Amino acid sequence: MIPNDLDAFLMPFSANRAFKSNPRLVVGGKGMVLKSSDGRDVLDGMSGLWCVNLGHGREEIADALRAQALDLDYVPSYQVAHPKAFELANRLLEILPQGGQKEGQNSAFTNVFFANSGSEAVESALKIAMAYHYSKGEGRRTRLIGRARGFHGSGFAGTSVGGVAANRKQFGNMLPEVDHLPHTLNIAEAAFSKGQPVWGAHLADELENIIQLHGAHTIAAVIIEPMSGAGGVIPPPQGYLKKLRDICTRHGVLLIFDEVITAFGRAGAATASEKLGIQPDLICLAKGLTNGTVPMGAVAISAEVHKALMTGPENSIEFFHGYTYSGHPVASAAGLAVLDIAKNEGLFDRAAELAPYFEEAVHSLKGAPNVIDIRNFGLAAGVELEPRGGVPGARGFDVFRGCFEHGILSRVTGDILALAPAMIAEKTHIDQLVETLGRVIRSTD
Ligand SMILES: Cc1ncc(COP(=O)(O)O)c(C=O)c1O
Repeated sequence: MIPNDLDAFLMPFSANRAFKSNPRLVVGGKGMVLKSSDGRDVLDGMSGLWCVNLGHGREEIADALRAQALDLDYVPSYQVAHPKAFELANRLLEILPQGGQKEGQNSAFTNVFFANSGSEAVESALKIAMAYHYSKGEGRRTRLIGRARGFHGSGFAGTSVGGVAANRKQFGNMLPEVDHLPHTLNIAEAAFSKGQPVWGAHLADELENIIQLHGAHTIAAVIIEPMSGAGGVIPPPQGYLKKLRDICTRHGVLLIFDEVITAFGRAGAATASEKLGIQPDLICLAKGLTNGTVPMGAVAISAEVHKALMTGPENSIEFFHGYTYSGHPVASAAGLAVLDIAKNEGLFDRAAELAPYFEEAVHSLKGAPNVIDIRNFGLAAGVELEPRGGVPGARGFDVFRGCFEHGILSRVTGDILALAPAMIAEKTHIDQLVETLGRVIRSTD
């Protein structure tokens, strides 16, 4: 079934012409399984795009969406509001790490700002960081530090702090005053590491050099993904994030974790921050927040940062930033339903229980033709292939396409294939994902 002319929709981050000459259309989804337009079952090995963590077609979420749309479809959050946005903010605080004191400051998460996507969560977090310093009389702290191979969405600020070269090259005019840490992927040193590599903590020391270069008084924040997702599933080296945290604390620089992928179970806990025992100052959330049903993003804010923003006369606006759909009633209802399901079914714990099985399964592909590295973290894994001579990305894309034809949805960036199944996955699903990926890799030249 091809519903209509495919030409009109300019697809995001896609090879439009190749897709439209050989489309992969998906028309249904239930649990772990998608239904393609030619009537085939396709096992969803990517939770959609790292977001459908609780499986497709969850009736509790659908019911909540419908009920909310009928009760109150929309009201702004500008100077009026509706209760569910507050309820969701409070419920999110229950699952966020409450890591206590940081040099006498209260670094527990006490507040949430709502946006509509991961990209907007990132833009909002960066603005919160600048507004925080401004409120404290340190308005010169505007410089932002990202990381090579980082992905922070598609806004101009997110693209600027991001470190995926292909995402930047068409857009000359980035934010000024941005610097980047080196990425931590080193296949020569750490290939086939299971979980967090032993090698690489020293790369955090580069932050100290960047701070010395520009002066701490000019730096607002460091933003990184605890595990780089889109950049190729790069788990943090052991000890690396703790070093970054300590350096940031020492210099009064805010540490932002972009947990758009890693939160809501992916890391084997509610957040990677919790899993790894690191307390950032701000956390970006999206994707799993609504199980992918409707768009929503959020920024978790620590007490210290929030307190600094709450200055000025009582009736003044404290933060000049927001979106028409910040705290949207329908998205808030979806978020609440997600948190209920996750709690009732213990799905964050389930992710942690499944992770070792998933790790062993994906690492069984070591030795398959052209496989040069396998990396994993929680319920996420990347299998990196040797690029085909002179054509980077060609082999990876062939494997991705072959997987879809053989009934599994994976994800490809360059020559890296990613798998990130939902937390409801059974071991048999993991077996099928890995077995199919292996079979396709072996039959691809
Ligand atoms: C770490 C990270 N940040 C931000 C984003 C952007 O999210 P969105 O596509 O919802 O804008 C993504 C999307 O994949 C992501 O992986």
